[in-house]
Amino acid sequence: MARVTASGFPIRLGSPRLHLRRTGSTNTRARLLAASGAPHGTLVTAGEQTSGRGRQGRAWSAPAGRALLCSLVVRDPPRLLPLAAGAAVAEVIGPEALIKWPNDVLVDGGKVAGVLVEGRPQEGWAVLGIGLNVAVREGDWPAELQGVAGTLGLEPGAIEPTLARLLQSLERWIPASVADVLDAVRGRDALRGHEVRWTGGAGRAEGIDAAGRLVVRSAERTHALDAGEVHLL
Ligand code: BTN
Repeated sequence: MARVTASGFPIRLGSPRLHLRRTGSTNTRARLLAASGAPHGTLVTAGEQTSGRGRQGRAWSAPAGRALLCSLVVRDPPRLLPLAAGAAVAEVIGPEALIKWPNDVLVDGGKVAGVLVEGRPQEGWAVLGIGLNVAVREGDWPAELQGVAGTLGLEPGAIEPTLARLLQSLERWIPASVADVLDAVRGRDALRGHEVRWTGGAGRAEGIDAAGRLVVRSAERTHALDAGEVHLL
């Protein structure tokens, strides 16, 4: 019998799968599928995105055929899905991968992966979009991403095997307990002990609290950030 999550959905991710050579955004395609009843685990992948989206309304760009670009339909998403996804991506990369709250995955200070979770909680689904720079070459980045973005430095042939490992990792991390997700993210925290700034202020990052928020100590008080963007100073 197929293993199922606490909500009764099969653990297995990646089926059905829609692969597009080129699309606007895999998240947009997956959202349309989710809204029309696609099952938990439905996967959309693309070789290239013409209007890939990032968090905070930013664009996400990657050269054609050199990044893993995927979006999954997740039914009954856990509250910490964005953190669980970061933990899964980091696990696939290895012990050198750190997580910059909430879910940017860094290697040697460069952002190798980003996660965009979008959904309709009232309808019980989310789309989990992940962009992972598997085979991007240093010279491929536009000027504004030089020195910010990172790459695994592998060959394009590594994209499919990396996807297979990512799906296996997500199958374990999506249904994982809150305690396990927090432990994993805390163990790879790229911000802890560093000075950071966000739109509301600046201070020293002190870790991640039991609700998955970033704790920052400023001169005046302690803040618990639950959304938004934090920059290392
Ligand atoms: C971020 O770090 O800002 C999140 C980036 C998420 C990018 C991925 S690529 C696949 C999926 N489709 C999108 O349009 N965005 C996500």
